[in-house]
Amino acid sequence: MTQQIKKSSRELSRRTVLVSALAALVLSIIMNGYFYSLEGARGLYVWHPILALRILLFMGLGPISFAIVALPLEKLAKKLAMRVMRWLSFIGSILVGLTSIVVLAFLIIVPRLGSLEPARLNLINPSQGIVAQPAQAKAAFSVGGTKDSATQSPEAEAAPEALSPLDRPLLRLSFSSDSHWGADTSNATARTEILQGIAASKPDAFFMLGDTVETGNSVTQWNFALSDLEALIPNVPLRLLLGNHDALFGGQYLYRKAFYPKGFSSDSGSPYYWSINTGPATIVAVDLPWGTEMFGARQKAWLEKTLAAADPRRPLIVLSHSYFYASGYDDPGFGTPWYDHYQNIPALVPLFEKYGVDLVISGHNHYQELLSHNGVTYAIVGSMGGIPDPEPSHQSPYSTWIEVGGYGWLDVDVLPGRLALTFRSETGESRQSATIRY
Ligand SMILES: [Fe+2]
Repeated sequence: MTQQIKKSSRELSRRTVLVSALAALVLSIIMNGYFYSLEGARGLYVWHPILALRILLFMGLGPISFAIVALPLEKLAKKLAMRVMRWLSFIGSILVGLTSIVVLAFLIIVPRLGSLEPARLNLINPSQGIVAQPAQAKAAFSVGGTKDSATQSPEAEAAPEALSPLDRPLLRLSFSSDSHWGADTSNATARTEILQGIAASKPDAFFMLGDTVETGNSVTQWNFALSDLEALIPNVPLRLLLGNHDALFGGQYLYRKAFYPKGFSSDSGSPYYWSINTGPATIVAVDLPWGTEMFGARQKAWLEKTLAAADPRRPLIVLSHSYFYASGYDDPGFGTPWYDHYQNIPALVPLFEKYGVDLVISGHNHYQELLSHNGVTYAIVGSMGGIPDPEPSHQSPYSTWIEVGGYGWLDVDVLPGRLALTFRSETGESRQSATIRY
């Protein structure tokens, strides 16, 4: 009798092994299902396929494979091989089950730990649009004694009413991206100067195109961003997009809580892609944190409908986090190409060209760049403080200008019949300007 108990404690029944392997498989499916339903998770896997992500994705298959291999081994006279397989399966089931529970808890709990500090910001609700401020002179921009000779003539400063109606902006917009609050490598001084410059120039709207923080599930990093934004640009109408870093490990929860609070809504029904009809311009934001991983049939149908319905007399401006045409480099770790986007270009550019998009503004690459192809102008503005990207090893054939290693933002003035673009340094000097007719 005692011997029998001892033996059965060493033996694992077929049923125990199979049930535990199936339970582990189900837990890993639930964990992966939740993870890959989150914003940016599929993009992370495609663009940064680190070993840990591969293991998490496929680990549920290990225990069930050992359990199945053990089945034909039952027929052998010697049971050692069967026992080894059953134990491998059983121990694997415990490890996979526990790992799935821990990862799921990490994804759900970490973004909800701590509390976001309330910040008084002038957030743009996409469904409410942008209110253009009364007709004014060109941007009266001055930070730390710096004046911009390219856009601030003495005449404009002294007598704005003397401007011809053709020179008077109907709408003044500013854009920057990739501030990366929370990254040791980001340049806080440049970021602060940019925000001071934006505050001084008082645009009708300022759009930050994502990667606001380094790690999206960190409430501390979002609080850094919120307190700086509140201190420096409390009154500037502000809208943010979700970047790949903002989305990391459930960061969408904090992004929504901070920048898309209850009561906000959009024409698409999504907080991540929407259109704003400002009157003088149509602004359309698409959800491309890494590439097209989030660009499903629903978003595509909405985009096509929105672009087709846009008033052709007004400029059509598209915003995104990840870019389309861009110069760049191959990721040193994974070899992924950070230039002329192999997913975004075929999926969206034909729509831009078909529906007469005038200007596409994106971040993701930490450069300032201006490109033009088939009648569409592309601007890269990932220069709000994130560590500058290396000298590009691949130059886009459509690049007309690039600033590597610098920080800054882009001003876009909507004027009658044209858009005036000015790429600025962090202290507000004009680096490059361009005009787009619409
Ligand atoms: Fe970035």
